[in-house]
Amino acid sequence: MCMRVLSAMQPSGQLHLGNYFGSMRPNLEFVKQAEESLFFIVDLHALTTLHDPAALRASREDCVRDYLAVGFDPEQSIIFYQSQVPEHTELMWILNTVTPMGLLERAVSYKEKVEKGIPASVGLFTYPVLMAADILLYNADTVPVGKDQKQHVEMTRDIAIKFNNEFGEIFTLPEPVIREDVAVVPGTDGQKMSKSYGNTIPLFGEEKAIKKAIMGIVTDSKGMTDPKDPETCAIFQIHKLLLPDAGAELLAAEYRNGLPYGDAKKLLLEAYMDYFSPMRERRVELTDAYVQEVLEAGRTAASKEAGATMAKVRQLVGL
Ligand code: ADP
Ligand code: TRP
Repeated sequence: MCMRVLSAMQPSGQLHLGNYFGSMRPNLEFVKQAEESLFFIVDLHALTTLHDPAALRASREDCVRDYLAVGFDPEQSIIFYQSQVPEHTELMWILNTVTPMGLLERAVSYKEKVEKGIPASVGLFTYPVLMAADILLYNADTVPVGKDQKQHVEMTRDIAIKFNNEFGEIFTLPEPVIREDVAVVPGTDGQKMSKSYGNTIPLFGEEKAIKKAIMGIVTDSKGMTDPKDPETCAIFQIHKLLLPDAGAELLAAEYRNGLPYGDAKKLLLEAYMDYFSPMRERRVELTDAYVQEVLEAGRTAASKEAGATMAKVRQLVGL
């Protein structure tokens, strides 16, 4: 189905169950169907919100490890740090010169970030142009993203059309593939799981922290053996993600028959550890040398492609 899939992730803190089911796992599915794929950590984008060198360094490395641990395979995907391929910023500059101010002024994500108190730097404003460069450099035709990023991929198409019209057909127009069917994973308080709400269950890290999060899931005040409603219970809604459909049906029946919440949490913790243990073990086994090797091979492969695109772009614009 897909030809060339490109996905990217901002390194921004410890990954949680919502990120896994909402983004990592569906992206992994796309990568598996793709003929070619690239996955990179957008550390330059992260600078729009994170000015803490030690935290950025740690967080981008954590992010590569997390992705390798969940199954991104360097034999299948080109994996690298955005900042190590300088063509991203070079192309961004050239795209800046064809991007109308009005296009960026309509960006919803910029407005939301500024409303949240993130300083309105020029970098934050032109974030979508860097994202366009990320995508257009590699002629990606399929970009799987969450709903919040759809507008950015549409802007990428607009910028590509503008460039192609002005200088010559060079860029492939990418298709955003929106992960519509992906469930919103509830957090431990029943709202959407998000690091900004402090209601996450981490994927990696200490088992103690996972246990604490699961045991802290908020429930209603039904008595121990009262029938429970699995549809409104966050414990069940999280647990069912870890089970095949038939298993989820059986578990739902237990809730209706009065499974106490304490027991339900213990079952969830066991299922959680069973499900993620292989990934957790793989993550611990990733040596520094291996991670560096993956990144170096990724950088080399990405640079080769990015270099070829930039050579054509420079030629077209007269540089
Ligand atoms: P957070 O809300 O914790 O800041 P991000 O915005 O960094 O998470 O999310 C990264 C990706 O993970 C996005 O593509 C988003 O769609 C997905 N994601 C995050 N939280 C959830 C959730 N609770 N349910 C489904 N997907 C999620
Ligand atoms: N803006 C995206 C996000 O916050 C990350 C990103 C940057 C990206 N460049 C990209 C995603 C290119 C897909 C393709 O999630």
